[in-house]
Amino acid sequence: MEIEKVVIPVAGLGTRLLPATKSQPKEMLPIGRKPVVQYVVEEMVDQGLKKILFVTGRDKRSIEDHFDRDPELPNRLSESDHEELLDEIDYDREGVKFFYTRQIIPPGRLTPAGIGDAISMAEDFVAGQPFVVALGDTIVNSGTHSGLVRRLIRSHIKHGASCTIAVLEVALHEVQHYGIVKPKGRAGADFEIEAIVEKPSEANAPSRLAVAARYVFNAEIFTALRRTSPGYGGELELTDGIATLLKMGHPVRCVRLKRDELRYDIGNPVSYFKAFIDFALSDQRHGYLIRQYLQQRLREF
Ligand code: UTP
Repeated sequence: MEIEKVVIPVAGLGTRLLPATKSQPKEMLPIGRKPVVQYVVEEMVDQGLKKILFVTGRDKRSIEDHFDRDPELPNRLSESDHEELLDEIDYDREGVKFFYTRQIIPPGRLTPAGIGDAISMAEDFVAGQPFVVALGDTIVNSGTHSGLVRRLIRSHIKHGASCTIAVLEVALHEVQHYGIVKPKGRAGADFEIEAIVEKPSEANAPSRLAVAARYVFNAEIFTALRRTSPGYGGELELTDGIATLLKMGHPVRCVRLKRDELRYDIGNPVSYFKAFIDFALSDQRHGYLIRQYLQQRLREF
């Protein structure tokens, strides 16, 4: 079984990053040289996923524009001798196809109705086949390891899971920000779970293993989402949809990120600053100047 479709939800409001996100999507904020969402797309294409559905919303048009071919740009760059600046994949040549649908804000609400609601918009696109979900505001850097999504897909197929989730161990004080899983038995590199809870308190967290923004689903998730009630703030959480899958008797598994595999969640100012600093420091062309600059600045603080 080959999985070739990925759903990238990008319809959230990015409230925690205001005012930077007042009139531009959080997914278009630059991290080093590229917008966040370009890293996500490059990761997916690198993993062999070439049919990409964005679930967009109001004020997200710049994402469509970003992945649209600009016929004039290569000429402009070659005229100004700056061809190297177009540091991106030739999506057409790679056979990548982009699709877009919108997460409509339901009557009576002022904000989108949650990640679970965004994913439910993808039902026609996936047409009953297994698919990947990658959150559009999170970068995964697998470094020298074979890609995380490929490992998720391999495990998903091998174990006949209904859902396979990437997870990462977080500090106890961070569990309240993430979906947290409860392993069935010992949690090795790849394990089955018996429960999942959204943003538990430290006292109620069943582990410190947090959902890390990459998933593989079978189409049962759409039935599960229909049977799931909205949670806090009336949002339909994907985590709660996965909890319903478990209640329906479907096997849900997890694959851990490797120790030096990094997840950058660009959701709040601190995580955004950290990601930007890391990518600026490791920039191939200018990183050494930034390293020198930071060393000097840190001495002065
Ligand atoms: P977040 O919950 O982290 O993003 O969703 P948000 O809602 O934009 O953030 P705040 O709380 O307002 O600051 C993770 C990803 O899921 C998308 C977001 O765009 C983000 O890329 N998302 C979130 C949706 O597509 N729809 C939603 O209803 C919520």
